[in-house]
Amino acid sequence: MFHLQKEGSIEKSYELMVQTIKMMLEDEKDIIANFSNISSVINLYVDKLNWVGFYILKENELVLGPFQGMPACIRIKVGKGICGKAVADRNVVIVENVHAFPGHIACDSATNSEMVLPIFQNEEVFGVLDLDSPEINRFTDLEKQYLIEVGNLITVFLSKQSYKAPFHN
Ligand code: SME
Repeated sequence: MFHLQKEGSIEKSYELMVQTIKMMLEDEKDIIANFSNISSVINLYVDKLNWVGFYILKENELVLGPFQGMPACIRIKVGKGICGKAVADRNVVIVENVHAFPGHIACDSATNSEMVLPIFQNEEVFGVLDLDSPEINRFTDLEKQYLIEVGNLITVFLSKQSYKAPFHN
């Protein structure tokens, strides 16, 4: 059974989040199970989120993966929206106010700010991790730093698996 540990500072809580995800990835090799639990863990440790989850790159489109939150857009083309920009740029995208971002794809009307991280398998983009918040300017360098650590753990996990990016099933 999972026991949520949150201690003291935000940094300490985020360190526990990273450790929890590290252990989960070491214990299980099924990608859907791991991505499901990772989105749940992030949702528990990062305050003020209305949506968090994965999109997986398949044939130049991002396809909805495991997530927590409202039902969401299923397919996003590379280069479109904030998720597609993170893939095209191969870099983290933080948007303080999604309503001021041209081309933002609105999936949940509660979202006001967003952070999207590309997830790599070896050097290839495998998909993205997307966090949405109802608060304007929710995502700071602190969230970016710890979520990049999570992304790096997922890269280590994916790089040991036999399936290759772009993922097909
Ligand atoms: N807002 C994203 C789409 C995904 S949802 O937020 C879950 C975008 O502009 O790419």
